[in-house]
Amino acid sequence: MNKKIIRILSKKNKSKLVCLTAYSKSIAKILDKYVDIVLVGDSMANVLYGHENTHKISLENIIQHALSVKQGIKKSLLVVDMPRGSYNSVKNAEKNSKIIMKKTRCVAVKIESNQNNFKIINHLVKKKIPVMGHIGYTPQFKKKFKVEGETNKEQHNLLKEAKLIEEAGAFSIVLECLTPHAAKLITENLKIPTIGIGSSLNCDGQILVTDDMLGLSGFYPRFVKKYANLNRIIEKAVKKYSREVKLNKFPKKNNFLNGTKLRN
Ligand code: KIV
Repeated sequence: MNKKIIRILSKKNKSKLVCLTAYSKSIAKILDKYVDIVLVGDSMANVLYGHENTHKISLENIIQHALSVKQGIKKSLLVVDMPRGSYNSVKNAEKNSKIIMKKTRCVAVKIESNQNNFKIINHLVKKKIPVMGHIGYTPQFKKKFKVEGETNKEQHNLLKEAKLIEEAGAFSIVLECLTPHAAKLITENLKIPTIGIGSSLNCDGQILVTDDMLGLSGFYPRFVKKYANLNRIIEKAVKKYSREVKLNKFPKKNNFLNGTKLRN
């Protein structure tokens, strides 16, 4: 088994897993110092490409961004989301995950559960492709953004789904928008680590979309804590630049190029 995956597994019940998304080298390089897992998420559809949902992200889009992210990563585990439709059969899942792994040299892929694709996960694991599962709100398959696990029946079904994903061989599982009780039930009954997003403290780790927590995306549901307001910082900088260009205050002498000297 890959060393980075062994390290992730060893953290269950010991220390929390820190996970974030990245779509580019510059962000990945910063995250790499502080996180266990960097996910090239198909959330790039909404965040970067302005799509209404994640459905139109292609294999090429994901690969292109993963190649950039990979350049910024040394120590953390790189996981790449498989786009919608790319794992709709065992054959497609194997072919496309192999393309992702080969082209991006990521360590694992993430697959959203449709409550019916356990065999696909199992097939990939048997082919030595590490898989991260994803249950609860799964944007590739569900239209409605809602909390899951309110009733006993829902909790029971979510636990059953998570167990089947574990039995299929996934090394970890994302729990998206689950009630604290559902998250606790699953986390306590699974051997693999659970990674929550909007699913309370009752998970083995947490993940957020980096652009959301940095205050850049404009998407701030209750479960997102804004650790910065990059929108405001960037706007301030751009406004200043605009003013200085118009007033001939930029570039200054030390920004002029003297002969061949490129840097100060
Ligand atoms: O696509 C993504 O960024 C994700 C995370 C929200 C878990 O799947």
